[in-house]
Amino acid sequence: MSFTVAIDGPAAAGKGTISKAVAAHFGFAHLDTGLLYRAVGRKLLDGVPAEEGARGLTPEDLSADGLRTPEVAQAASKVAAIPEVRAALVDFQRAFARRAGGAVLDGRDIGTVICPEAEVKLYVTASAAVRAERRWKELVASGHAADLAEVQADVEARDARDMGRADAPLRPADDAVQIDTSELSIAEAVARAVAAVEDARGR
Ligand code: C5P
Repeated sequence: MSFTVAIDGPAAAGKGTISKAVAAHFGFAHLDTGLLYRAVGRKLLDGVPAEEGARGLTPEDLSADGLRTPEVAQAASKVAAIPEVRAALVDFQRAFARRAGGAVLDGRDIGTVICPEAEVKLYVTASAAVRAERRWKELVASGHAADLAEVQADVEARDARDMGRADAPLRPADDAVQIDTSELSIAEAVARAVAAVEDARGR
């Protein structure tokens, strides 16, 4: 039987951490849909036109090195504004969402466009300052030289592009449970997400 948990929100709000923890807790499969756009962005930086990159995406592309850099993140949000790129990635995501045994998908348009019928929809957010600091710490921890003000400007530029695009803009689904992680520990944020899933499973 399928059961879909859709988790959306802006960059560095904690979606990835929450998604992995929810998937592990319930034994569901997890898809980080941002990786699809990052892989297309990475290919674009290597000279492959975005639509062609999206149509020809392979599992190996998703495990390529260097998908987590700020440069690739910006390229991802640019290709993500192209309707043909988004259209090329829909079927794969929907099939994943409906696989037997349950699935968690995190991204920007999962509850609104990819899986409007998802059994659980979460919108995970946090203030831009908190998100920038988290992303900055991650970059520094992984050995990248990073300037906090630059990271915040990057995060805000990406949010503006993701929220302002015409096709599948980032916004909470009307029936999404919102979790603001600005002042929550990871354990508290995960507990809220798990409770929302348990609530839906009990219905
Ligand atoms: O989540 P992540 O930061 O890896 O996503 C990279 C970019 O991919 C986002 O800034 C967004 O532009 C795009 N994206 C999207 N729709 C999704 C997932 C990611 O447009 N479902």
